[in-house]
Amino acid sequence: MDLTTYIGENRQRYVDELCSFLRIPSISSRPENQPDMLRAAEFLRAEMARLGMTVRIFPTAGHPIVLGEWMGAGPSAPTVLVYGHYDVQPVDPLELWTSPPFEPQVRGGDLYARGAVDDKGQIWLHLKAFEAWRLAGGPPVNVKMLFEGEEEVGSPNLEPFLLAERERLACDAVVISDTSMFARNVPSICYGLRGLAYFQIDVEGAGGDLHSGSFGGAVDNPANALCHIVAQLKDQDGKVRIPGFYDRVRKLTAKERREVRRLPFSLKEFLKGAGNPPRAWGEKRFHVLERIWARPTLDVNGIWGGYQGEGAKTVLPSKAGAKVSTRLVPDQTPAEIERKFTAFVKRIAPKSVKVTVRHLHGGSPFLCPTDAPEFQATERALRRAFGRKPVLIREGGSIPFTATIQEALGVPVILMGFGLPDENSHAPNERLELENYQRGVLSAAYLLEELVAPRGKK
Ligand code: BES
Ligand code: MN
Ligand code: MN
Repeated sequence: MDLTTYIGENRQRYVDELCSFLRIPSISSRPENQPDMLRAAEFLRAEMARLGMTVRIFPTAGHPIVLGEWMGAGPSAPTVLVYGHYDVQPVDPLELWTSPPFEPQVRGGDLYARGAVDDKGQIWLHLKAFEAWRLAGGPPVNVKMLFEGEEEVGSPNLEPFLLAERERLACDAVVISDTSMFARNVPSICYGLRGLAYFQIDVEGAGGDLHSGSFGGAVDNPANALCHIVAQLKDQDGKVRIPGFYDRVRKLTAKERREVRRLPFSLKEFLKGAGNPPRAWGEKRFHVLERIWARPTLDVNGIWGGYQGEGAKTVLPSKAGAKVSTRLVPDQTPAEIERKFTAFVKRIAPKSVKVTVRHLHGGSPFLCPTDAPEFQATERALRRAFGRKPVLIREGGSIPFTATIQEALGVPVILMGFGLPDENSHAPNERLELENYQRGVLSAAYLLEELVAPRGKK
């Protein structure tokens, strides 16, 4: 039977299997879910072994890495490495989910569950594409698959693994499905991601909480001091005030700007996807897409200190703190931003309190070479699966491993994503449109064929 027909006929099974995978609550940040992390890794291992891959689970200081390979296309055929993550984000606030996060449910053509789009659904579609090929012997390219369980916590153990096991990962191209399409029916290849540097600021004053009448005015208040610091990090239009922050920001090329304006962008749709905030916001000189794709940002992700209960309580809190992230763009580096951020906060910190800055994690921004033959192979695969030429986009999110592996192996990393911008990843009611899941299986299957073409290159 031909590949396309086979994939079409197995649609329901692909959904059922994904549901089994989604029932495992593999939340990487919660120690309670450690056994589930092992179960999810084992779930992948078993499927990869069933499909005839040589597969191994590598323990790490955190959650395990699953690596499989099938070299059946022979030494002269190209090798593709598929990367993805089997860990998911926490589910709170639980009461906002229509159906429980780990009890997958199909409603109106969408599959609802934590991890549906980010990233279990987008892992599973590659396994199903490979499976379809294997029934006819195997794909014309060698396939490696690398799945980690710590992407959502900054991939702390993946780079050491990559450096130690570099030969095992040898390949001609890396393919990742962990991004979105520009819009429904708009197949997309993502050629750029932002990087990240994430900080925690802690402010301490007196040894304990104080009566704000007895001490207020003569002893500084850490919550006030923290607000004072945070308020100086940006101006009112969103421009970051840290000296040198923009030094290495690479401008979009004229060609990129033209292409941004050609995309079918609707501000109304964008705001709807964002849950209808009163208006768009940000650096006025830049198109909304450029603000997200190619401008760095600084955001408070969480802030605390002092009394939070009902009514009023007169108190000078002894402590306050904030989680502050910066999204980075080429050619900023997390190390440089860490230095500049820390120095600036230290410099503006009032001497009346103790301020500490910790860097929690980071990742480099990413750009992929769009002239790589593997990139064009991906364009052909998507065009076949969707019946439309894909658009080239960037995204504002981060996948720390993309830049790391592209640099370490010197091969192109291609982001072929099947999510939609409003599928609630990291939020309640995460979902995946089943039509895109199915087209994802097809695209991944076609890609294994299209990748043969760029061979001669090596
Ligand atoms: N799949 C996302 C990355 C992503 C988000 C790509 C939005 C495109 C658009 C990934 O799982 C993720 O959430 N990454 C984290 C980074 C990490 C270091 C916690 C992110 O972007 O916040
Ligand atoms: Mn992801
Ligand atoms: Mn994520």
